[in-house]
Amino acid sequence: MIAKSGLSLVDLDDEGVDPAFRGDVLAGLSQAQKAIPARWFYDDAGSLLFEQITQLPEYYPTRAETEILTQRSEDFARLIGSGRAVVEFGSGSSVKTPLLLSAIDPAAYVPLDISGDFLRASASALAERFPGLPVYPVEADFMRRVELPTEVAGLPKLGFFPGSTIGNMVARTSVDLLREMRATLGEGSKLLIGMDLIKDPAVLIAAYDDAKGVTAEFNLNLVRRINRELEGDIPLDALRHETRWNDDYARIEMHLVAKCDMTFAVAGKEFALRAGESIHTENSHKFDRRMSNTLLLAGGWTPRERWLDSGERFSLILAEATVPRSAP
Ligand code: AVJ
Repeated sequence: MIAKSGLSLVDLDDEGVDPAFRGDVLAGLSQAQKAIPARWFYDDAGSLLFEQITQLPEYYPTRAETEILTQRSEDFARLIGSGRAVVEFGSGSSVKTPLLLSAIDPAAYVPLDISGDFLRASASALAERFPGLPVYPVEADFMRRVELPTEVAGLPKLGFFPGSTIGNMVARTSVDLLREMRATLGEGSKLLIGMDLIKDPAVLIAAYDDAKGVTAEFNLNLVRRINRELEGDIPLDALRHETRWNDDYARIEMHLVAKCDMTFAVAGKEFALRAGESIHTENSHKFDRRMSNTLLLAGGWTPRERWLDSGERFSLILAEATVPRSAP
């Protein structure tokens, strides 16, 4: 049952464009190292391309995390229990969600996503699969403060943040988000969060630079979106998808590298790129056990349990919004 549909917290300007998108793009293109936040990948075309990425042989995270969700249902039932409102941050197509929901018997499901059409389609598919479970989709950018539907106010919460999306943020931003989630979900809530693991850089690079070129299309789609929504004339053909491993920061970086010197305009402003310079479009941080524990604790979450897939490529962590009693 979709209890409340069409709740939208994203406000658009007269041209139907999110002013935050314009602001981020203009600010990002004005920097010495041009950079655009990765969350703007996910218009409807970008969300569909990401779904295709998850099916690629090289892109292991989705399969690895799905394996954990499939195999650990008894652990989830025991450690999370029934009766919680599950709040999913960036639900996308919600393919992993049924695995969790059938394991824990929740009281409500609140998917949050920035891509409205996608959100409504997957929310109704899920509502059909779980008759009797109230579903409250909220169209929202979870990087900003989210108000949960009043109907779930009295319920204990489980935050669900799969896919290692936390890895898209630099440390400071991810700590801000974790603290924000803690405030939204409340004391005593739990968080089930996916974090991709540090591994052989060749494996990581292949996952973000697949042979079929789907990830390249996903990267270039951001430029298509800028050109369409922000009246840009960035020459797509003169940009090349590049994936780098940044070992100091333990992260994969995606860039769009200029094949030649170029000038272009976006929203009436002029920009230039020299051949070889790039627009940095995504970070995807990778973690080891201590890094994820430190990050969660910094965000106010105490790690309680950690699961890996059989290939030990990906981790899923259950944390609790409680302060450790022994903290000096
Ligand atoms: C959706 C953030 C988890 O970083 O692995 C996939 C996005 N980018 N391929 C990731 C992504 C390129 C993905 N997350």
